[in-house]
Amino acid sequence: MRQDMQQLRPIYHIAVIAGDGIGPEVTAEARRAVEAAASLEDASIEWFDYPFGAAHYLEKGEILPGLALIEMEDANALLLGAIGSPQVKPGILERGIILALRFYFDQYINLRPAKSLPNVPTPVPLGGKMMDSVVIRENTEDLYMGLGGIYDDGEDCDTVLGLERGGYSLRGKLNLSLSPNMPFGVQAALSTRHGVTRITRYACETAIERGEDRVTIVTKSNAAPALYGFFEDTAKRVIEREYPSLKCEAVNVDALCYHLVRDPLAYGVLLCPNLFGDIVSDLQAALAGGMGAAASANIGRRLSMFEPVHGSAPDIAGTGRANPIAAILSGALLLRHLKLEKSAGAVEKAVNKYLESSPKNELPFEFGGEFSCREVGGAILKRI
Ligand code: NAD
Ligand code: IPM
Ligand code: MN
Repeated sequence: MRQDMQQLRPIYHIAVIAGDGIGPEVTAEARRAVEAAASLEDASIEWFDYPFGAAHYLEKGEILPGLALIEMEDANALLLGAIGSPQVKPGILERGIILALRFYFDQYINLRPAKSLPNVPTPVPLGGKMMDSVVIRENTEDLYMGLGGIYDDGEDCDTVLGLERGGYSLRGKLNLSLSPNMPFGVQAALSTRHGVTRITRYACETAIERGEDRVTIVTKSNAAPALYGFFEDTAKRVIEREYPSLKCEAVNVDALCYHLVRDPLAYGVLLCPNLFGDIVSDLQAALAGGMGAAASANIGRRLSMFEPVHGSAPDIAGTGRANPIAAILSGALLLRHLKLEKSAGAVEKAVNKYLESSPKNELPFEFGGEFSCREVGGAILKRI
């Protein structure tokens, strides 16, 4: 953060990757909201735009250069829209940009609150109550490590592995052969004591901050004991030793999905390995009212990144039907991360006020209304 020398106003530097599909549409609205809210605390924002995404990749062949990562590190936060396009094979940009950012900056916490909003219909009736749950997703390990490959012409898998994480490096070899020979794909998952311990501590701190007395570990130790059994046992040990006041329960992810749909209010803090956290957060988003309202933060000790839970939604890109609330509320999480609490609160209150006071036709398409992405953004901005 710099200061404006004439007015002594703090200036925050925010890197932006608007990305693909509806990414630029929703990010534009998040920027307007963040700027207006920051000015309430006399802070100003300087944006640094990066062009990465499908169009840039198709035109220049570049995904996310190392130099950009080094430059971004000086920013106070990173705002991301969405990455991924039907014109690019799945995985190239998603791994090359989103996961690369999470891993490079060691953003080991993926915070995904699921809160129902006023006047927003939910697919499962909540009996007049509001959903308020949170997925705490481990963000650097599990099946997301990128260990493995596709071996499709009868060759053996004989790969040297090497990667860096905050806290450790991994070196080794994956050597597999099939008899008879046939094409195969393999992707190894890893869970470490370091990785599980740090995310469990964050989940426990979150539960305490929320005034709750329990953490739910989302697991699948019955089918994958080496991976999820390890995660579950390690997390349990951390909770028992370091947070004796908290109860800890483990629920298999399949049963969790069942329970969640029958009672979306049944859980508070859901501590998830990377893959389950991804899947459960989309389910939670749907239960709370819609993908277009689900915000998220990728937090670490270095640069943190704020982005909606949703993707580039190519099915509605360019139609104006994207709901920008998820991106705007991710902007609120960004402001809170900058310790601009009043500004963060102002954004959240403005979203609530807009939803409470608007007639149905002025709601986003996703909530049964007719307001475009820009109009929803404008209506919220007016209330900030
Ligand atoms: P998606 O989240 O883009 O879309 C799922 C459904 O939700 C679609 O019907 C879409 O129209 C709807 N939706 C999403 N955001 C919305 C919004 N703001 N307002 C209204 N409706 C919204 O998931 P997908 O279809 O699996 O993925 C599309 C692309 O995005 C793929 O390339 C995928 O890899 C990528 N992706 C990126 C991210 C990210 O950037 N963080 C996250 C998920 C998916
Ligand atoms: C998300 C996305 C990403 C993930 C993809 C695009 C790699 O689905 O942020 O939820 O799986 O984490
Ligand atoms: Mn996802």
